[in-house]
Amino acid sequence: MEAVVGLLMLLLGVSHAVETFCDGRQDGAQCYAALGGTVVLQLMTSASHRFRYQWVKSETLEILYLKKNVVVENKLESRSSFTPSNGTFRISNISRTDDAEYTFKVFDSDSGMQTEKRKLKMSIQAPVSSPLLASECLSQGEVRVSCSSEEGDSPQYSWTLDGHTLMDSQLLSANEDNKEITLKPGVSGQLVCSVNNHVSSAAANKMISQCAGTGIILRIAASLAVMLFLLVLVVRVHCAPTTKTNKKGQDSEDDQDVNYINIRMADLQGRQRAHVGDEEINSSVFTEAV
Ligand SMILES: *[C@@H]1O[C@H](CO)[C@@H](O)[C@H](O)[C@H]1NC(C)=O
Ligand SMILES: *[C@@H]1O[C@H](CO)[C@@H](O)[C@H](O)[C@H]1NC(C)=O
Repeated sequence: MEAVVGLLMLLLGVSHAVETFCDGRQDGAQCYAALGGTVVLQLMTSASHRFRYQWVKSETLEILYLKKNVVVENKLESRSSFTPSNGTFRISNISRTDDAEYTFKVFDSDSGMQTEKRKLKMSIQAPVSSPLLASECLSQGEVRVSCSSEEGDSPQYSWTLDGHTLMDSQLLSANEDNKEITLKPGVSGQLVCSVNNHVSSAAANKMISQCAGTGIILRIAASLAVMLFLLVLVVRVHCAPTTKTNKKGQDSEDDQDVNYINIRMADLQGRQRAHVGDEEINSSVFTEAV
């Protein structure tokens, strides 16, 4: 029961509050926020009475305005909060429209002069979902494994086998986006496919056992057939008395000759009974048969 509740909490946690942190104190910071999640932006170390602060979206839309450590304006009030003491701006329920370039401006309260200007790019990504792993054996005993996450923006795929990245001795090929790989024949172990983007990660694992490819099976079958054939040959040569074999062979050849003559006789009789109009054709066929 506890495990079920725990799992439920985990699922709820994963699907709801993906929280990312971004330090925006450097000009040109690149931040990522999860769609439907929360982002905590560090805009400054701490707010000071001496300055006024302005946070603007796409050069024009004033989102946040702070004067004498008091939030004068917050356009995202319903889903955000600014904490002057540690300079963090926390925005929840992130949507695609939050994807933009923001500018942070600092003004001297006394002179009104701008003392600092920084840009911050915020990119929104949908979190990746748990991937599905599927494997199949190929004809030469290679294993083709594909991994796919249904949801998520810009997913990146990576693989490990028994906890280690795949080596050239194990990996035969991988497709362009690394979603599908082919393992060399004989490779086995616990295979993990991890998928992640800037706001989330998920993984799936599968026990890979050696594949007996149909090519290998065919080759084994062919070898067995050859061995059996040779065995039969050896047994016949060694066990059957040579003189008797020859005599028997002679007998059967004689039998065949007798049979052939009988067939010719029967054929001749049959054709003689045929219709007169067909005589010319029959005779030519007969000549050929002889
Ligand atoms: C800043 O303060 C808020 C409110 O006390 C707190 O929730 C948050 O964790 C703090 N963030 C940092 C980065 O210290
Ligand atoms: C989140 O935002 C959407 C619109 O973008 C809105 O419909 C929804 O009610 C919001 N949810 C919360 C919990 O604020």
